[in-house]
Amino acid sequence: MAELPTAIREPEIKYTQIFINNEWVDSVSGKTFPTIHPGNGKKICDVQEGDKADIDKAVEAAKKAFEFGSPWQKMDATKKGALMHKFADLIERDKLYIASLETLDNGMAFRDAYGGDMPMVVDIFRYYAGWTDKIQGRTVPIDGTFFCYTRHEPVGVCGQIIPWNFPLTLFALKVAPALACGNTVVVKPAEQTPLSALYAAQLLKEAGFPPGVVNVVAGYGPTAGAAISEHPDINKISFTGSTEVGQRIMAAAAKSNLKRVTLELGGKSPLVVWKDANLDTVVEWAQQAIFFNCGQVCTAGSRTYVHEDIYDEFVKKATARAQTKITGDPFDSKSEYGPLISEEQFSKVLDLIESGKQEGANLECGGQRHGTEGYFIQPTVFSNVTEKMKIGREEIFGPVQSIIKFKDMEDVVARANDTKYGLAAAIFTEDIDTALTFTSRVKAGTVWVNCYLIASTAAPFGGFKMSGIGREFGEYGLQAYTEVKNVIMKTSVKL
Ligand code: NAI
Ligand code: MG
Repeated sequence: MAELPTAIREPEIKYTQIFINNEWVDSVSGKTFPTIHPGNGKKICDVQEGDKADIDKAVEAAKKAFEFGSPWQKMDATKKGALMHKFADLIERDKLYIASLETLDNGMAFRDAYGGDMPMVVDIFRYYAGWTDKIQGRTVPIDGTFFCYTRHEPVGVCGQIIPWNFPLTLFALKVAPALACGNTVVVKPAEQTPLSALYAAQLLKEAGFPPGVVNVVAGYGPTAGAAISEHPDINKISFTGSTEVGQRIMAAAAKSNLKRVTLELGGKSPLVVWKDANLDTVVEWAQQAIFFNCGQVCTAGSRTYVHEDIYDEFVKKATARAQTKITGDPFDSKSEYGPLISEEQFSKVLDLIESGKQEGANLECGGQRHGTEGYFIQPTVFSNVTEKMKIGREEIFGPVQSIIKFKDMEDVVARANDTKYGLAAAIFTEDIDTALTFTSRVKAGTVWVNCYLIASTAAPFGGFKMSGIGREFGEYGLQAYTEVKNVIMKTSVKL
């Protein structure tokens, strides 16, 4: 990581309104909602609260911006790519400010916001900027004297609902591929973390995107979010968040207009430590897998399966290591972990920790609130966890490592797959056949071998089973943003 600058502790809040047609407006209802700093629970500012009427306005703008003859529709693909590169330049220009804003609104460690999210946002935009002039159809040799070809056309207006755990990275991951394919978008950031997306909206305007191409409406899920999923003029919806809300969105899409749906949902990802693994190295990876961003990661390695021969030693080492982790003021560059996002999430995680104790898991360390204000929880390690316990089954979304004992490959594959989720999995072993057996048998959208949480803008990401539908990132991530049009033309020659 490049050297870390000092965070701006009180970044000026510049944009709190609704962004439609490249203009800042108040909500139709006149309502606002507070956004808070999770490090102390105090209000940062009030933000205009979007609801159905505001979503309607935003969709109208996005529809107009998409229409035949609009500046965006007429714009060459290379020019669209240039605008996306320009936006990436602006993120780079303002990254100290934006990372500070992200730390303020989300509570994530500044070192992660600055060193992880900002470069990722830039990478995502640059990667998809390169795709704008490479969205190609095929020619298809069909019987008879016909010329048959396909066009990959934009879907239209895309509704994009994002969560709070990586606010700007997920904003980029939704918006960039949509724009690369020529769509227009209405984005709803999470109510907990609206500020970075609102700032990014202004940068999109500065970069030169025409009015209506990107619209950002902050607001709550059951109101503004539901209005997006039910909207008859939204052609595609992309959602990242809980499995429960994903199901609701899909039902609303089905009922309204069969808008296309892609979902990135929850997980309970198994990380398997085989008996031949180097324990010190694996303890590091396994804890990065579960403690990164305080466990508020959809791919968090939340079930650590350890072979019975090395189980006790692993637990000892994991416990010792967890106690050296630094939780604290997210603006302090020494802090590895900040607070959880909200009081709701904080209570949910503490309740799950309590359930782990009651259901007979061994609390090896942590398990308590850290400090006296804000939503900090100590890195927590449980041993003797089983999948019958809540902490062994449910997505915790907190810094809680659950260490589970296993016997052999049959045992661990069956148990790894005994979940409704299928987002990610990992195995640590020196033996190639062991690795390949596991990677082929585990049901998960991403499988890591001897590493964890490695992601690339070029590599697909998404879930099996109830972890989602569709893929994001890479070329795969473009598929959901185009419709394939088949054109068959009568000719007088056999082609
Ligand atoms: P959530 O799924 O309720 O919220 C995510 C987004 O969906 C937010 O923008 C929210 O406003 C919106 N939303 C909520 N209800 C909606 C509705 N009826 N229609 C349309 N949009 C709606 O997640 P929440 O409540 O913030 O967290 C609950 C749990 O979800 C977490 O503990 C975690 O287990 C999981 N989660 C998973 C994420 C992931 O990365 N896959 C991200 C955030 C949460
Ligand atoms: Mg919710």
